[in-house]
Amino acid sequence: MTPPLIAPSILAADFANLQRDVELLNRSEADWIHVDIMDGVFVPNISFGIPVCEAINRHATKPLDVHLMIVQPERYIDAFAKAGAAHPDRPGTITVHLEASTHLHRTLTQIRETGCKAGVALNPHSPVELLADVLDNLDLILIMSVNPGFGGQSFIPQTLQKIRKLRKLLAGVSQPPIIEVDGGVGTDNVAALVEAGADALVAGSSVFRATDPTEAIRALKYFTPT
Ligand code: DX5
Ligand code: ZN
Repeated sequence: MTPPLIAPSILAADFANLQRDVELLNRSEADWIHVDIMDGVFVPNISFGIPVCEAINRHATKPLDVHLMIVQPERYIDAFAKAGAAHPDRPGTITVHLEASTHLHRTLTQIRETGCKAGVALNPHSPVELLADVLDNLDLILIMSVNPGFGGQSFIPQTLQKIRKLRKLLAGVSQPPIIEVDGGVGTDNVAALVEAGADALVAGSSVFRATDPTEAIRALKYFTPT
């Protein structure tokens, strides 16, 4: 089994020591740096915006995995692409929420035009079948395993069933998008998630609240199968 891609969420880092925490991720076995953007409208919390993304990008050596939890995400795609997601040497991903996108097909095309991978996130209540007609237009599907807005929430167990359903939906696709899972991911559920079909895992608290974040990343990547 291929080890999952690990995307630690910078939302759980120490913002007063952002450079230190980005450099820690650079030296670790993390694959991407997950950047959570919250607007206080789509989700009931505000995280940070473009200048902080630029600051992360200045120190990062790994692709940025930008998760836009904002309304009208199409208005900010170019800004986040320039803020680091579309870095020429390590192009990353921009993910928008299905629930916030009126013209999803157009938005995904816009993301790809910046040089980034195009992602769509699904809230826990949104069925995977809603993506059936855009499967050729996206590179990544982000399955939310918590209601977005806060780090440190409990994993919603029905997510496992949802990942299996998505895996089946992707069975006939020639270049299937990456399945990424976000929220409440840790060593207690990593094996079940990968066995259900997850390719990439976001982890905030389980990495940055660990005594040794580097080791916590390694433990997720090289988990013991059930
Ligand atoms: C939740 C965010 C997540 C969050 C994950 O709204 O999208 O990326 O940072 O944090 P943990 O791993 O603590 O659930
Ligand atoms: Zn996220």
